[in-house]
Amino acid sequence: MVRDDLIKLALHVREKSYSPYSGFKVGAALLADDGRIFTGCNVENAAFSPTNCAERTAFFKAVSEGARKFTAIAVCGGHDEEPEECFPCGVCRQVMVEFCDPEAFEVIVVTSSGSSETYLLKELMPKAFSPLFR
Ligand code: THU
Repeated sequence: MVRDDLIKLALHVREKSYSPYSGFKVGAALLADDGRIFTGCNVENAAFSPTNCAERTAFFKAVSEGARKFTAIAVCGGHDEEPEECFPCGVCRQVMVEFCDPEAFEVIVVTSSGSSETYLLKELMPKAFSPLFR
C-alpha cells in the first residue's frame, strides 16, 4: 500500500535530519503523480532563518527533478526517536498549494509509530493564495 510505503520512507529519512538547534527531527516522503517518491528531512542553520523544513526539502528535490504534480505526502517529526504529531508549517502548506490540487492532495500526518491521520490539503489550507499559473 503506497500510504504505508510513504510513512516508512518518511520515518527512514527522518534519521538524516540535521537539527542540532531544535533537536526536532522531521522526515517527509512525497508521491509524484508519475509514481516517483521524493524524500526530505529538515536542514537547520546557525542563523536559524535559512532552515528548510522536511516537506520543502522533498518538494524542492522533486521539482528540480522534473516532477510538477503530486498525490500525497507523509510527514513525521518529533524530539525523540518515537514520532509525535507534526503538522506541516504554514510556509510548507503554501508550497503544497503551488504544486498540488487542494481537493485531492493528501497530507498523511504520522501521530506516533503505527498511527497516522490523513487530511486533504484544502482542510489544512483553506482560502489559500492560489498559484498564478495553473
Ligand atoms: N519542521 C519541519 O521540518 N516540518 C514541519 O512540518 C514543522 C517544522 C522543522 C523546522 C525546524 O528544523 C524544526 O522542525 C523545529 O521547528
